[in-house]
Amino acid sequence: MELIDTDLDALLSAIYSRYGYDFRGYSRAHIKRRVLQRLRLSELDNIALLQKKVLSDTHFAACLLRDLSINVTEMFRDPGFYRAVREKVIPLLRTWSHIKIWHAGCSTGEEVYSMAILLKEEGLYDRVRIYATDFNQVVLEQARAGIYPAERMKNYAWNYQRSGAKAAFSDYYHAQYDSAIMDPSLKKNIVWANHNLVTDSDFAETHMVVCRNVLIYFNTELQNKVYGLFNGSLVKGGVLCLGRKESLRFSNYSDRYSDMDKDQKIYRKNYRYE
Ligand SMILES: C[S@@+](CC[C@H](N)C(=O)[O-])C[C@H]1O[C@@H](n2cnc3c(N)ncnc32)[C@H](O)[C@@H]1O
Repeated sequence: MELIDTDLDALLSAIYSRYGYDFRGYSRAHIKRRVLQRLRLSELDNIALLQKKVLSDTHFAACLLRDLSINVTEMFRDPGFYRAVREKVIPLLRTWSHIKIWHAGCSTGEEVYSMAILLKEEGLYDRVRIYATDFNQVVLEQARAGIYPAERMKNYAWNYQRSGAKAAFSDYYHAQYDSAIMDPSLKKNIVWANHNLVTDSDFAETHMVVCRNVLIYFNTELQNKVYGLFNGSLVKGGVLCLGRKESLRFSNYSDRYSDMDKDQKIYRKNYRYE
């Protein structure tokens, strides 16, 4: 089935005015793929019928919203990123007496618990407050609970070992039946909050922003808007971490940052912007 841009525009505007979620600046290729998939699964004949159902059926709308915001994540995803954080970012974080970290688009929380483990091992966790945000309340609740299927732990342990591990991954969770419950000590300094990168404002005086595998779904204009939000949030000399497939390079903010790790997309905000 062919999807016409004007029909997609109408669908996204309808979602925005009815539910307040603004997907108009998301990458068109991503939106098209997800809408087509939902059309196939729901056996609807065309996008006009889908729009009608989205507006009248809140359960169906929730399904589509979930489709549009991909929540895939894992503990110590891209272990090389965590190795680079240990080697290059931790020495800088040590220079601050209180450290504020913002994980934007944290999904079900695996990335946040991974960072908490790393900070604990580096002796910094007690100095840190982590703000972990997402615009999807369902994943945020799962993140807050910190309970994951036990079957995933083998893969997570493997990632952890390759990330420069200092202990055994099983030290950080308690196994109960088919679940792994994250150690409560990891939650102590984490604040979970609903925040929409498209419509909400910045977090002042942040030392490190981690936003990985989120901007990949946004178009260039929206990416620049969100980079502006991060730039307004970060202190001078603060650190911005993006996903492997994302880059500040061609954005409006590229000359305000220097590379800390080119491969792992870790940037440092310059003290002076010329
Ligand atoms: C693919 S997951 C990435 C999770 C994690 N950062 C990682 O790299 O493993 C993308 C997350 O971004 C969130 N997201 C998408 N659009 C957002 C927005 N406008 N504001 C806040 N979060 C958003 C989604 O709900 C989803 O949980």
